[in-house]
Amino acid sequence: MENLDSSCVLCTLLVIVILYISVQIFRLLVADCDLSLQWATRLGRGIGRLRGKVVWITGASSGIGEHLSYELAAAGCRLVLSARRKDELERVKKQCQVSGPLKPEDILVLPLDVLKYNTHSDATETVLKYFGQIDVLVNNAGRTQRAVWEETDLEVDRDMLDLNVLGVLSLTKAVLPHMINTSGGHVVVMSSVAGKVGVPMSGSYCGAKFALHGWFDSLRSEGYEKNIKVTLLCPGPVFSGILKAAMTSKHGENYGIDMKSDEKRMSTRRCAYLSAVAIANELDEVWIALHPVLGLTYLHQYMPAISKWLMKGFGMKKIKELREGR
Ligand SMILES: NC(=O)c1ccc[n+]([C@@H]2O[C@H](COP(=O)([O-])OP(=O)(O)OC[C@H]3O[C@@H](n4cnc5c(N)ncnc54)[C@H](OP(=O)(O)O)[C@@H]3O)[C@@H](O)[C@H]2O)c1
Repeated sequence: MENLDSSCVLCTLLVIVILYISVQIFRLLVADCDLSLQWATRLGRGIGRLRGKVVWITGASSGIGEHLSYELAAAGCRLVLSARRKDELERVKKQCQVSGPLKPEDILVLPLDVLKYNTHSDATETVLKYFGQIDVLVNNAGRTQRAVWEETDLEVDRDMLDLNVLGVLSLTKAVLPHMINTSGGHVVVMSSVAGKVGVPMSGSYCGAKFALHGWFDSLRSEGYEKNIKVTLLCPGPVFSGILKAAMTSKHGENYGIDMKSDEKRMSTRRCAYLSAVAIANELDEVWIALHPVLGLTYLHQYMPAISKWLMKGFGMKKIKELREGR
């Protein structure tokens, strides 16, 4: 009798485990982001939780940064919009006022070149003078790359690190002391699925985005006791102007080719919405991508040997097609 009882309990447990795993697999199959972010979109804190916070966004003049500005404006955040093109930032500011409850004085347009590290402290002072606080810094500005590995000039590797890594570090280091001296803050870093999986034709870009994970995972652990939160956002292919301004293998050259509207990429708006949910819920790291890129990212994280074998077997052509949204 006792044996029968314990085998019944075991059977029930097994059914529960199988059911749980099936539900998770089903959720993953229909998802466009990782499971923790998916839970956050349903059960987590809404973007409205960020209302009143001062959020500084770099790369706000186009693409994901522009649409993230609209999401945060709609939620009632006070915004600092930075990039090099002031006219584009003014356009985004106007649109923010349409999509949200903000008055013109709630949005500061602050032109900034991420590569000019010596301006970052003054820019931080300007924001602090204007708003008195910086709650969230979103390091979003960046450029991608299309280049054959062995043809890539070392100069290009350096350019990529200067913009996508050192620029991010420099601005964060300018803002961090203020966050630590007040009651804490939140540093958000725009990485990429290419910061998790080494993909072809973007050696320098992958290297730079991978590096961000090392630097900012370290800050997350170190900053915990100082109430510093760190979120790494990792989108897959998303519609934006990023390809046009992409670096190539030659120093100073732009790829110059625009995305085609029929490419299989996530909309900029959806990526911005999911990024905003991740920020509101202070998630450590999120993956935002359509399948099969999302599935490949999971495979790479949890079964790296299989994913590396698959990537070699798939061949460069197939992986390139996936990256280009085909
Ligand atoms: N689109 C994708 O498929 C994708 C996927 C994964 C990750 N990401 C990441 O998402 C971020 C935004 O890219 P996006 O797709 O939105 O591309 P985008 O439309 O080209 O936006 C890039 C932004 O970065 C700014 N920027 C570039 N160089 C700068 C500099 N030196 N100083 C200040 N701002 C600079 C640009 O503004 P100005 O030209 O006005 O300076 C622009 O606002 C990047 O970090 C990228 O790596 C994109």
